Amino acid sequence: MILMVCASTGAWAAPADYRIIPLPKSVQTDSTQFFTISSGMGIAYDASDPEMARNAQFLRQWVEELTGIQLAMTPDDKKAAVRMALGLPADKKAKNKKGATLTEQQQEAYTITVDKNGIAIYARKHVGLFRAAQTLRKALPVLPVQKAASEKGVTDGGAFAKPEVAFPYATITDEPRFIYRGAMIDCARHFFPLETLKSYVDVLALHGCNQLHWHLTEDQGWRFEVKALPELAKKGSMRDQTVIGHNTGVYDGQRYGGYYTQEQCRELVNYAAERYINIIPEIDLPGHMMGALHVFPNLGCTGGPYPVWQQWGVSREVLCAGNPETMTFLKTVVGELCDVFPSKFIHIGGDECPKNRWKECPKCQAKAKELGLKEDEKHSIENQLQTWINHEMEKFLSERGRDMIGWDEVLEGGLTEGGIVMSWRGIDGGIEAAKQHHRVIMTPTTYCYIDYYQLKNQSAQPEGIGGYLPVSKVYSFEPLIPDQLSEEEQQYILGAQVNLWTEYVAWPQHVFYMLLPRLDAISEVQWCRSDQKDFEDFKTRLPRMKQIYDRMGLNYCRGLE
Ligand code: ACM
Ligand code: ZN
Repeated sequence: MILMVCASTGAWAAPADYRIIPLPKSVQTDSTQFFTISSGMGIAYDASDPEMARNAQFLRQWVEELTGIQLAMTPDDKKAAVRMALGLPADKKAKNKKGATLTEQQQEAYTITVDKNGIAIYARKHVGLFRAAQTLRKALPVLPVQKAASEKGVTDGGAFAKPEVAFPYATITDEPRFIYRGAMIDCARHFFPLETLKSYVDVLALHGCNQLHWHLTEDQGWRFEVKALPELAKKGSMRDQTVIGHNTGVYDGQRYGGYYTQEQCRELVNYAAERYINIIPEIDLPGHMMGALHVFPNLGCTGGPYPVWQQWGVSREVLCAGNPETMTFLKTVVGELCDVFPSKFIHIGGDECPKNRWKECPKCQAKAKELGLKEDEKHSIENQLQTWINHEMEKFLSERGRDMIGWDEVLEGGLTEGGIVMSWRGIDGGIEAAKQHHRVIMTPTTYCYIDYYQLKNQSAQPEGIGGYLPVSKVYSFEPLIPDQLSEEEQQYILGAQVNLWTEYVAWPQHVFYMLLPRLDAISEVQWCRSDQKDFEDFKTRLPRMKQIYDRMGLNYCRGLE
């Protein structure tokens, strides 16, 4: 770390560096002049605005965590060293902007100025103040923090006795490229405590993400409490044992499970909302349903019995599309899901639903007949039956003001009107959907599946599902697919996300090992213009992020390919 003398106090001050991840849209600096902060200086904010106070408090806390500098909360002090305010200087200059409709990206915009008067943070909305505070956090040097003098063995009165940070004079203006910047976590193959999910949220927020996609139900366990069906989570969340390794046929003999109460879900929703992250819950239907079928075998085509699955892969046992109780069940579950999660987007899964049972099931075939489904060149009867389910779910969600997301299989039987496609089996589903003027979230396995290994040497990593997805490959992703989509069609691409499936990820340390630093790479895909991206430059900015992870106590992959 470069240290330098601060002219005002003669103390050592460490410089801040705005070359952060994801890189802001525009950073103009004058590195010959600095504004220096130290303990006792103030952060000012509008005292009548609790949301701004919360964001000021976040900044205060982050500065202390990374540098040991203790700033004081000094509401309404116009002369404070750090000042937060709503309203962008650029908008004040351009008065005509007042009534203009802002894009979602523009709503998140912020400006930071550093000059002789201190550090000023401006944003149109509170979310922008939060993003700006994160930028300042990441610009900080990570200093050895002096322990409290009362702690045994602390006698040092040396260089960091009075930590100071020198901010180069600067004007930073920033806003994200995409409106959807997400990451998925599968809490169904393995169950993670709420504390781990809060850390996941913290890490997403650090990277400017705004969506956490929460995969809650699977063949291997049902994790969402449904009050009208109390047995569902109680019994459906527990598997008797788990296969060892890659479906070896050898099992560990350990009962395993857990679920989230609605109260816990709400707690996470609120925690995430304070960090400007929306939680999109996923109930994966009509396949991946062994957890539910175990409790309600009458909802399967054969009637069961069905165990909560103890192995990995895709089960051929799925919900019976012809049983009217199936729709009642789904509406009960998704109804409660909507009560708990305020998200505009609700994910109904739709992936990997084998049709073997439906082809043979008299109830399913009778339903297809009743609906008048006919096979055509593109769509089998059974795929259309799944579309009928999707359509019912979409109507149900729409009545509640929600938009339905489905994995790209939802295209197979003909996409419903308002459905959003999550393109995972490559980019083709996303391209097809965008051409049909449907909204798309890009999450192709080739760039976004962070359950894959990230280093060539597999033996140097914890056991994984297979594949190879290094940081550089994630970084190289361009979600707009400009060689195949027109500018108009590109408008339907909302953004991108990484997916963390957890068949082989059982512990929180492993979660963060898989996530970091690939989240750094996707965050530049999500936030930065494509002409700003430069992997060699990105690599020079990564070490400080890793210092922040160390300070946060987070695990990450040390290798980088
Ligand atoms: C998926 O990976 N099955 C969406
Ligand atoms: Zn059936």
